[in-house]
Amino acid sequence: MSTPGLGLPMVVPAPDLPARVRIHEVGPRDGLQNEKATVPTGVKAEFIRRLADAGLRTVEATSFVHPKWVPQLADAEALFPQVKDLKGVHLPVLVPNMRGLERALALGADRIAVFASATESFAKANLNRTVEESLAVFEPVVARAKDEGAHVRGYVSMCFGDPWEGAVPLHQVAHVCGALLDMGCDELSLGDTIGVATPGHVLELLAALNEQHVPTSVLGVHFHDTYGQALANTLAALEHGVTTVDASAGGLGGCPYAKSATGNLATEDLVWMLHGLGIDTGVDLGRLVATSEWMADRLGRPSPSRTLRALSHKEQ
Ligand code: HMG
Ligand code: MG
Repeated sequence: MSTPGLGLPMVVPAPDLPARVRIHEVGPRDGLQNEKATVPTGVKAEFIRRLADAGLRTVEATSFVHPKWVPQLADAEALFPQVKDLKGVHLPVLVPNMRGLERALALGADRIAVFASATESFAKANLNRTVEESLAVFEPVVARAKDEGAHVRGYVSMCFGDPWEGAVPLHQVAHVCGALLDMGCDELSLGDTIGVATPGHVLELLAALNEQHVPTSVLGVHFHDTYGQALANTLAALEHGVTTVDASAGGLGGCPYAKSATGNLATEDLVWMLHGLGIDTGVDLGRLVATSEWMADRLGRPSPSRTLRALSHKEQ
């Protein structure tokens, strides 16, 4: 146990948790893709720079998707060159198909993410394809990206529930995970796109995936916080051995093609819990809070992050 400083949690480790967690920051992509107003490119670049300066080592920068589908990220070509030379930070970008990959590679991106769905309804809504059609689109994209030496993440959305289909059978998630690994993805991220998961469900899915030869070492978790379960779900995943957790600075986020999706787990709330457990993240919480406050000012509304509000209040 150690004594907290001002604005820091008391450190009390718990058994059987990882010593270090890699936070995959998705604020500039998942966060800003869902904003009503389009954020100026220079503000996005400054947001990414500040996140890197706060110690986040992986910051998902943008998406090379069709600009009409996600107009908020239509400036990917202008944004990426402004941040790509930042030192010591990985800047993955989303690509939905070969056209997206070519756009990303042309700018020197070396980390890409494809995004699949465990359900037919979301595959159709988000990618205009069936699940199998979208996997067929991804196969050559992943192969080409690997040939170019890029690191590839595979997202699987709607792992815990779908707004059109309800409960999602575990075998559907396992099938898509297996297909993405077979085509060469280096890591997977399990998306609770609409934030309906609870901790027992998380443990059940992780165990089912292990049984289907999907090792925990390649799995990250991506919880949206619609029902306030994201931190509890994260702790369950850590107890199972997961060491990569997606989060969004200030709790920004959602998906324009799943109306019931709200913000991601707030990075500040995650860092408060991890540091309280004595888990290393490399993140400076004070700088992170200052960054999210700065972004909230740019967006003109307060952040939903409880930790951010608590720490802001202390400083007033
Ligand atoms: P489509 O309309 O079927 O596209 O959309 P298409 O393949 O028929 O092509 C039509 C035209 O679009 C063609 O142009 C293509 O060249 C062009 P034309 O020949 O007619 O002149 N086109 C492109 N242009 C620029 N960049 C591209 C591109 N692709 C085609 N990449 C498509 C299919 C996949 C493009 C579309 O559905 C799309 O862009 N979807 C993206 C949706 C999205 O970004 N959703 C949010 C991210 S996923 C998420 O948030 C979930 C996650 O956070 C995890 C979780 O929470 O669960 C990751
Ligand atoms: Mg998401």
